[in-house]
Amino acid sequence: MKNKKIIISGGNKLSGSLHVRGAKNAITKEMVAALLSSEPSVLHNIADIADVEIVSRMIELHGAKVTKISDGSIRIESKGLRLAQPDELHKIAGSSRIPILFAGPLLNRLGTAQLPTLGGCEIGPRPVDFHLKALASMGASISQSEKVIELKTSGLKGTKIELEYPSVGATEQILLSSVLADGVTEVKNAAIEPEIIDLICVLQKMGAIIGVGTGRVITIQGVEKLSGFEHTVLTDRIEVASWACVAAATNGRIFVKGAQQEPMMTFLNTFRRVGGEFKIKDDGIEFWREGELKSITLETDVHPGFMTDWQQPFVVLLTQAKGSSTIHETVYEDRFGFTKALNEMGANIQLYQDCLGGTSCRFENRNHLHSAIISGPTPLHSAKITVPDLRAGFSYIIAALIANGNTEIDGLDIVERGYEKFEEKLSAIGTKIIT
Ligand code: EPU
Repeated sequence: MKNKKIIISGGNKLSGSLHVRGAKNAITKEMVAALLSSEPSVLHNIADIADVEIVSRMIELHGAKVTKISDGSIRIESKGLRLAQPDELHKIAGSSRIPILFAGPLLNRLGTAQLPTLGGCEIGPRPVDFHLKALASMGASISQSEKVIELKTSGLKGTKIELEYPSVGATEQILLSSVLADGVTEVKNAAIEPEIIDLICVLQKMGAIIGVGTGRVITIQGVEKLSGFEHTVLTDRIEVASWACVAAATNGRIFVKGAQQEPMMTFLNTFRRVGGEFKIKDDGIEFWREGELKSITLETDVHPGFMTDWQQPFVVLLTQAKGSSTIHETVYEDRFGFTKALNEMGANIQLYQDCLGGTSCRFENRNHLHSAIISGPTPLHSAKITVPDLRAGFSYIIAALIANGNTEIDGLDIVERGYEKFEEKLSAIGTKIIT
């Protein structure tokens, strides 16, 4: 496996402009949605990230074809859809959550699916029990060995499903499975992230009938056949927030072309509360900071709350804020492991098992270190650090940008899974990178 390493010379204000394209967590699902039809589909605003390459290879193992038609546009043709070898899929997928989402298209078009089991990763155990329960309730039979999940159906049927938690993946699973099922499926406690709404837009273009009601209820009326589609993917709001944190943390000014206001509203409010500022323009958002950064109490949550994937860059930003900030992570039980390296660089971040900040979450009394108190401001000094996961990886880049001296960051190939050409973008805003 490749091991990307860079050395960042920190301590400079970073300013300039850069372009953020389509959201990793929408593109990859919309590529899978294309398999619901034997007609070709076209996606635009595709970021050049490793996860698109990974999903393209998984799609090709299923007998379909992914062609790059121009910079940022791909065509997917799946006339010859067939099963792939689970061990080959596993080799490509690694810790990707996408393979399980192939269940819907495969069950609807072939009546059977064979998928690799998904393990946990650096941010927790990440089970797929909600996905499998939903598929079983729609009429799929499931057998599971150590390495393979095998599903079969003589026809999926619409049903009523109530999710224990508004899981993004499980909601997508139900959408991708129920659009071609017989009858109506109602999902209560569904996730309604902007990337899910973007996927619903794709499915509607294909001919699906999906209603998003009040109170997290999604209703899908199954149809017999879906057609191909053409769609421009919404911008990656996690990447946009990451660059906003770079601007504020380095006291610079960054214009992020492509950034959209609506899916970022919660982030923008929080950014402003800590002393960040922004200007919404027709083609993007400009970010900077006004004076000293201020501490805050916040909790991560499902949409429309503060995203768990905004938490890591924000933690680094808060190491530079005056006072004690509290973050309660309510989506993942184990998403603060990355703070150890930040403390080694001079940050003062303490982790707690309690639900700090006011409300209790489902991790209460379960011995998970899921709350953090960040005391600041603390100058950061250079170090040698290794990236544990995608979002923590970018947060280490931000730490290196504000640290005094040269910080060596190892394992950056993980960051390439979700941040398009991040080295080029860093250079464009004035980062001194020593490779
Ligand atoms: N969960 C279960 N059982 C399930 C599914 C989920 O217990 O069957 C739990 C998870 O363990 C977690 C919570 O529910 O504690 C939320 O998980 P969810 O299913 O919502 O997450 P996901 O679909 O696996 C996607 C993104 C994540 C993002 C989360 C939350 C993709 C490929 N991944 O994961 O993005 O953090 O939603 O918004 O879309 C990232 O981009 O770096 C990333 C981790």
